[in-house]
Amino acid sequence: MDISRPAQRLGEAGQSHLLQFWDQLSPEEQAELVFELDSMDFKEINCFFKHAMEASGQAKQEKVDARMEPVPREVLGSVTRDRESLKYWEEEGLRCISQSKVAVLLLAGGQGTRLGVPYPKGMYDVGLPSHKTLFQIQAERILKLEQLAEQRHGTKCCIPWYIMTSGRTMESSKEFFSKHKYFGLKEDNVIFFQQGMLPAMDYNGKIILEGKGKLAMAPDGNGGLYRSLGTHKIVEDMERRGIAYIHVYCVDNILVKVADPAFIGFCVHKGADCGAKVVEKTNPTEAVGVVCKVDGRYQVVEYSEITLTTAEKRSADGRLMFNAGNVANHFFSLPFLKDVVNTHEPQLQHHVAQKKIPYVDMQGQLIKPDKPNGIKMEKFVFDIFQFAKNFVVYEVLREDEFSPLKNADSQDGKDNPTTARQALMSLHHRWILNAGGHFIDENGTRVPAIPRHGAAGTLSPDGSQNLKDGTDLPIKCEISPLVSYGGEGLEKLVNGREFHAALVIDESGIHEHVKNGL
Ligand code: UTP
Repeated sequence: MDISRPAQRLGEAGQSHLLQFWDQLSPEEQAELVFELDSMDFKEINCFFKHAMEASGQAKQEKVDARMEPVPREVLGSVTRDRESLKYWEEEGLRCISQSKVAVLLLAGGQGTRLGVPYPKGMYDVGLPSHKTLFQIQAERILKLEQLAEQRHGTKCCIPWYIMTSGRTMESSKEFFSKHKYFGLKEDNVIFFQQGMLPAMDYNGKIILEGKGKLAMAPDGNGGLYRSLGTHKIVEDMERRGIAYIHVYCVDNILVKVADPAFIGFCVHKGADCGAKVVEKTNPTEAVGVVCKVDGRYQVVEYSEITLTTAEKRSADGRLMFNAGNVANHFFSLPFLKDVVNTHEPQLQHHVAQKKIPYVDMQGQLIKPDKPNGIKMEKFVFDIFQFAKNFVVYEVLREDEFSPLKNADSQDGKDNPTTARQALMSLHHRWILNAGGHFIDENGTRVPAIPRHGAAGTLSPDGSQNLKDGTDLPIKCEISPLVSYGGEGLEKLVNGREFHAALVIDESGIHEHVKNGL
């Protein structure tokens, strides 16, 4: 096989080491390597590396504290502080949905390294009584919302679901949907597209080999969204379908209110081009990014970018001044998204994530480093807030809307399958109580509505779920999204009734499994 052309390109880009094992590769491996090299623009990659390292060096030096301002009240909507407007926003959102103007866009291209399963996170079953996966829960919420909008406005509608995957998650995600008949959605309305990948580099800008003929490749971050929207002409597809508003969210939040009508209605009412859903940060040292203004423009400032003094600052009402915790849950108008894709995307810079990247040494031995040995380059989905002309923020309750699945289960763990499962069951328990239902134990005694403080499944001060005390687990209770999207419509089923856990309410009825046999 002739490698003079790739060899020359690599030489010009200072990446010739990628061919160091060429003579030891089989003809098939050689062909695969050449194919991969041909698809890459090394000059561009070197440029990304240079800019990302420069920006990261600068960020380390200067904290942004002095340039930060909190989100002003006039752009802020809150489910707790604006109760009287909620119904109106929800109506507005449902109206937009009924006119088929709303699409959802799922970010599902991550590698899920911390969770550590060999398949896409959306296919994960956190162990609910129904054993539904994250993909199924989200699909059913979309279906239910379409039904609610249709009932309210008497018109058939659809919420197209755009799913961004990566080289590593595309095929298995598609197969999974096909095997499950798209969970009742129309195949045409579930649109998969693939984000880009970038090579991992060592600190000197050399691409890392993870095999003798294989580059260490990783998805280019959830902000890779904007480039891939352009590559796959997704905005054009949205235009063809008459979409006006897009709700973007992450695959791993089990509580996500997909296409949340109240959030959409709030953003539309405000005439926003871009909006962010946030949860209140209550603990100054919680490692969560906060939405705020820096030099007059909106952005997410990571915990590591500010001093503790700033993180601890409080407003007159006693709440943290910088408390708009980012949960990667966004609203975009289509013109804004189009502008980002067509005009602003090239201005976005990659962030540097230092990682332990397995590599082959000079002898071709695979080494798994125990400390970071290189970087991955990633863009973030929120990097585009700076381009918004009318940015709004919508604050919701963490216990109702945010419980991400990041880690594998472990004692004392945070954001893992157990906390995700318990967050959902605890929410559904509250829905039953609010609709007038009750739980009783095996002796017929009513189970107290509020679990003991500090019991397993309750929230710690930092908002993470408490798993330490296993004596008072939340009631096992699951309500299918096909029955209720956000707690509505349950009175007729549960008001004045008493139930034994585990309780499952689905399309086929109410099921009680007294011995917790689920
Ligand atoms: P995370 O940053 O938590 O990454 O992604 P992850 O892949 O889920 O998990 P780790 O860090 O490897 O353990 C937040 C959201 O962004 C998506 C993920 O799928 C998740 O929904 N994401 C992340 C992408 O779509 N593309 C990426 O390149 C990275």
